[in-house]
Amino acid sequence: MDRNLALNIVRVTEAAALSSAKFLGRGDKNAADQAAVDGMRKMFDTLNIDGVVVIGEGEMDEAPMLYIGEQIGQGNESSPKVDIAVDPVDGTTAVAKGLSNAIAVVAIAPRGCLLHAPDMYMDKIAVGPKAKGVINIEASVEDNLKAVAKALNKDISELTVNILDRERHEELITQVRNVGARIKLFSDGDVAAAIATCFDHSGVDVLMGIGGAPEGVIAAAALKCMGGEFQGRLVPYNEEEKARCTKMGIEDTNCVLSMEDLVKGNEIYFAATGISDGDLLKGVVYYENNMAKTYSMVTRAETGTVRFVEAIHKLDEKPEYAY
Ligand code: FBP
Repeated sequence: MDRNLALNIVRVTEAAALSSAKFLGRGDKNAADQAAVDGMRKMFDTLNIDGVVVIGEGEMDEAPMLYIGEQIGQGNESSPKVDIAVDPVDGTTAVAKGLSNAIAVVAIAPRGCLLHAPDMYMDKIAVGPKAKGVINIEASVEDNLKAVAKALNKDISELTVNILDRERHEELITQVRNVGARIKLFSDGDVAAAIATCFDHSGVDVLMGIGGAPEGVIAAAALKCMGGEFQGRLVPYNEEEKARCTKMGIEDTNCVLSMEDLVKGNEIYFAATGISDGDLLKGVVYYENNMAKTYSMVTRAETGTVRFVEAIHKLDEKPEYAY
């Protein structure tokens, strides 16, 4: 794949963030999401790819755009054939309430390389590059945190664990506290929370807990690019969800999904743009005269280069996007 595709997918996440950010704090998560979908979809049309959405807004009958199976891009014979995973807003509730951590994200890989994760929960553990190779989702919380602390040459009391603030995590929180590690609870957006483990400046060392499976694949793509590690395990809550796993070829729903199971190979591209402020990226800032600034990151696994892109947009010059 052409490495310039990396810069082009930043345009896609920028478009989603610019479209959605006007809904910050306005109490309407569906409108925030729809705006991001519209912005993202229009920008995708400008890309020279022959893409298929494998993780998106839902099945075709549930979502008019960016639905699973939708063909994306200008695609001709010579265009790269790719799988696309999108989350136009990871953190729709955060946008609606004006809370932190909402981002727009896209991951791209050659056809067949992204797991078509079903829309259900996934248990997750993620760490940055310095702790790669020492985690095991099947081991106890204590063993994992001890191993990460050792790899980072930190005392366990200096370790910070990102956990989604949900009732289902009460037991996990108790276990982390008993081991003596620090906890940062966040309200939404576990893709950004997983990526934060790859950056020292975030102060976060580990992500643990249950979140969306599609978000798990997207986070695994990002961490693969940055040299971190992600492991997941699907958490089907009923027979129908178990049947969906079987249909996908996952007989043992308890099996560990490694980064390679979730995202195959090394031709992975990932981009994210902040919608609201977070540990990873700042949100959209509006300037005078209909201008706005976005903060994005883009990375690809082949080189592991991570670019932070700050862009000032003259929105008057982009009337077709109606930001
Ligand atoms: P949405 O933007 O789709 O609402 O997802 C936000 C999110 O926080 C994800 O980052 C996370 O994986 C998932 O929700 C957790 O699900 P739940 O809110 O049901 O606990």
